[in-house]
Amino acid sequence: MIDVILGLQWGDEGKGKIVDYLAGQYDIVARFQGGPNAGHTLKFGGNKYILHTVPSGIFRPNLINLIGNGVVLDPIVLRRELQSLEKSKVRFQKRLLLSRKAHLILPTHRWLDAASEAHKGKGKIGSTLKGIGPTYMDKTGRNGLRVGDIQLTDFKERYEALKNKHLELLRIYPEIPFDIETAEREWFDSLDTLRALQMVDSEYYINEALQQGKKILAEGAQGSMLDIDFGTYPFVTSSNTITAGVCTGLGIAPQKIGRVIGITKAYCTRVGSGPFPTEEDNETGELLRQAGMEFGSTTGRPRRCGWIDLPQLRYTILLNGVTEICMTKIDVLNTFSALKAATHYQYDGKKRIDLPFDLCATEVAPVYKNYKGWNSSLDAATTFEALPGKAQEYLNAIENYLGVPITMISTGPEREKLIVR
Ligand code: GDP
Ligand code: IMO
Ligand code: MG
Repeated sequence: MIDVILGLQWGDEGKGKIVDYLAGQYDIVARFQGGPNAGHTLKFGGNKYILHTVPSGIFRPNLINLIGNGVVLDPIVLRRELQSLEKSKVRFQKRLLLSRKAHLILPTHRWLDAASEAHKGKGKIGSTLKGIGPTYMDKTGRNGLRVGDIQLTDFKERYEALKNKHLELLRIYPEIPFDIETAEREWFDSLDTLRALQMVDSEYYINEALQQGKKILAEGAQGSMLDIDFGTYPFVTSSNTITAGVCTGLGIAPQKIGRVIGITKAYCTRVGSGPFPTEEDNETGELLRQAGMEFGSTTGRPRRCGWIDLPQLRYTILLNGVTEICMTKIDVLNTFSALKAATHYQYDGKKRIDLPFDLCATEVAPVYKNYKGWNSSLDAATTFEALPGKAQEYLNAIENYLGVPITMISTGPEREKLIVR
């Protein structure tokens, strides 16, 4: 079976930390969508690591890490990541596999991303500008270049054709400064890094592994509210971030999926533009941001902060078929004497638990329930029962509302700060 870990909010739920923790129980960890827009943070042994493309199982010896066909890969970013892993003495050469069908991000994709955002002006998505949207557009537009293509004899011509098309397109957008020669040199150099890694037909690889009884963990990037179909469109990313994306992003059948672990913070954040009903654009939000150190792992931007949104979580649990919940960053609430959780939305004159068709076009007012804070450290708690009573009440209330068990509670960024029930 293949188990899935993914984010139930707008990303940065702590997926990297939880994948790293659980990876020891698996043979393979696989990324199935997204690309270097992701920033997954791991903390252990007094060190901090941020991964963008490499799956979060890379620090566990003997474990295979697969970059699946659904991923879009920037070889320059990958090379930088691998250099930093080398410095940390992580031996990845035989354990990092690339799907031949993953699409390549070209330097021109990054500039098209920037140009598209400049063109949108005030309506910009707040993209990470890593070239994600334009690369997926070329994939669905049937123009893309794939990892396996770099071994073709006419690869250079294919690259030139796509690059020239991009340069034409860039002319219709607001001007973006770029240096094609330097970027191109760096990009072609970094292809050598790809050539030195193992490329596989990952759909065969993964299905054979499943047949041999290997345990596989699929690692989501972004969050379900950034899903291209079900997120707060158009303020979303360009891939299917939900469980369904595991099937298309790895080439496995739906009945092979086992546990679906949905991760939510004990509150909520979003980075970039777009609707965020429970946002606290005020002192409370600032307190959450400081306590939670809510600054983007990829872009360093301050994350928008607010209370946990239960109608939103109910929606993403439904979309993903979540079988269990992991709640992260509960320690961030330690200093709050009063907490809130949205239980309903008020819109079109009614109190509802369903999200409207378009959160961008509908004015929704969250209806909150208040909870008492626990005002103490959680450092000593290693079991659910050892948590302060008020924290248990908060968790039980959320679990009852959502109807899915909260099986893991993360009480700090470090690997060992996790309560498993
Ligand atoms: P991801 O993209 O879902 O992997 O999450 P990020 O790494 O972008 O952001 C999560 C941030 O919260 C990182 O800085 C983590 O080190 C940190 N983090 C993860 N779990 C916890 C937790 O339980 N408590 C605290 N205080 N920080 C956490
Ligand atoms: P992880 O995996 C949080 C957001 C961007 C922007 C929108 C589109 O670390 O949780 P894109 O670069 O995909 O065109 O950006 O999506 N976004 C993320 N927000 N965490 C992420 O990844 C994100 N990846 C993209 O901020 O609003
Ligand atoms: Mg992140």
